[in-house]
Amino acid sequence: MWIADAIAAAVAQRGTCAIALSGGSTPRAVYEQLARDELSVPWEHLEVFFGDERCVPPDDPASNYHMAFDALLRHVPIPRARVHRMPADSADLDAAARAYDALLPERFDVLLLGLGADGHTASLFPGAPTLDERERRVVPAEGPTAPRRRLTITPPVIAAARRTAMIVAGAEKAEIVERVLQGPFDPHALPAQLALGADWFLDRDAAARLPQRGGRA
Ligand code: 6PG
Repeated sequence: MWIADAIAAAVAQRGTCAIALSGGSTPRAVYEQLARDELSVPWEHLEVFFGDERCVPPDDPASNYHMAFDALLRHVPIPRARVHRMPADSADLDAAARAYDALLPERFDVLLLGLGADGHTASLFPGAPTLDERERRVVPAEGPTAPRRRLTITPPVIAAARRTAMIVAGAEKAEIVERVLQGPFDPHALPAQLALGADWFLDRDAAARLPQRGGRA
């Protein structure tokens, strides 16, 4: 599996692996499978971060941390001190963003991302000022739907990641997959184009509008 192999390679090369997990609903099945791969992953050498988070408590079903905890983290022996939840439920979101930025490694060894039907990735939404951020690595963000308040990594973090996987599933993503991968380059309109250099994992439905060899199930 790509994620298990990428983690193992980072640990073999650098003795540690800083991974950023993505949220939304798509990665749940991937995280469940990763948890079943228990023996092939050097869990104790992982340092776990998040690419974005919604402004809800950690036990809220809309929390990206909650989903990752439920599908993966609670099943595997990662030391709890090495799991860094994004505190997007903090009253002072700007201070929370700065504190999380200070925790980040220089580069993620492995960055997982998802694709929204509007072309967003992490919580970088089309037309948002966060897309022009060049200095800060974590900033407050505003989403179009509830929970609107978010924290998100910024474009330089995506650019700096050693290995990135974009994981997309479902027929409702087929059109945006086509626009992001085959349309003109305009990351302000289609922030997921910031991850064109990633390895893209598409299920058959999400790849339906690509030329025959464009996706893999
Ligand atoms: C979030 C995300 C976001 C997500 C996409 C896809 O917190 O909303 O991290 O970028 O990956 O919106 O979400 P689905 O998998 O739910 O379609």
